[in-house]
Amino acid sequence: MNEIKKDTEINAQESSENIASLDSKQKNCTSISGRIPTGSEVLDKLLKGGFEKETISTIYGPSGCGKTNFCLISAVEMVKTGKKVIFVDSEGGFSIERLKQITGDCKETLNGIILLKPTRFDEQKRAFQKIKQLITDDIGIIIVDTISMLYRLELGKNEEIYNINRELGLQISQLTEICRKQKIPVLVTTQVYANFEEKDQVKIVGGDILKYGSKCLIELRKLRGSRVAILKKHRSIKEGEEIKFRIENEGVFEND
Ligand SMILES: Nc1ncnc2c1ncn2[C@@H]1O[C@H](COP(=O)(O)OP(=O)(O)OP(=O)(O)O)[C@@H](O)[C@H]1O
Ligand SMILES: [Mg+2]
Repeated sequence: MNEIKKDTEINAQESSENIASLDSKQKNCTSISGRIPTGSEVLDKLLKGGFEKETISTIYGPSGCGKTNFCLISAVEMVKTGKKVIFVDSEGGFSIERLKQITGDCKETLNGIILLKPTRFDEQKRAFQKIKQLITDDIGIIIVDTISMLYRLELGKNEEIYNINRELGLQISQLTEICRKQKIPVLVTTQVYANFEEKDQVKIVGGDILKYGSKCLIELRKLRGSRVAILKKHRSIKEGEEIKFRIENEGVFEND
């Protein structure tokens, strides 16, 4: 107990030192440091510099809204910095062709990505155990696209809802533990379903487990002729900020 308390105190001390050094750096710096660039001007602007370390950021929205695009672009950006990416692709959305469109030549990007491709919820569970073994200081980000698809399928065929929810909760807490220990960001995506009480809103698959587990929530919507990213939750940025964007061959760009 004492040891645990001591550990916590040391971490708190370290983090206040980090904040102090960050503050002094920021005095001479126009951009907010300490955030991890997302590879797209859209999310960098929305998140004032990028993903926060030590937290899970979740992007959610309907099929085709751009979730996987943002994941691929973030992976490309991280590899450019010399760090590696763990990418869990649970729905086969990881497209080498799309990577080529974004990067021109995706060889270097592919070398920097450790790809896990679970096809059932129990495989996703094993993939998460594997992440623990794969974690080194070389890993700059963990991306899970999507965390909820295999969970949703499992819910459809299995009546043990309690156990399935418990497993999703465990996976989120495992990601939280890893990102806090490694001081890296985690990017997760999830699907949505119709909200019959409030028709202009959607509900996210994974519900409260994901909402509470994520310190940053971004909703993507497809509009007629455009797309929008809306900040729904953040520790230090006002909620409700939004940016319209479009998807093009080379990536994702802000609409004028
Ligand atoms: N080269 C490209 N140029 C323009 N748009 C593209 C290009 N490649 C993909 N898109 C568009 O990206 C959208 C799909 O984005 P993405 O795969 O990121 O969606 P998603 O939210 O991950 O969907 P899902 O939930 O089905 O996985 C489609 O509208 C598609 O037309
Ligand atoms: Mg996708």
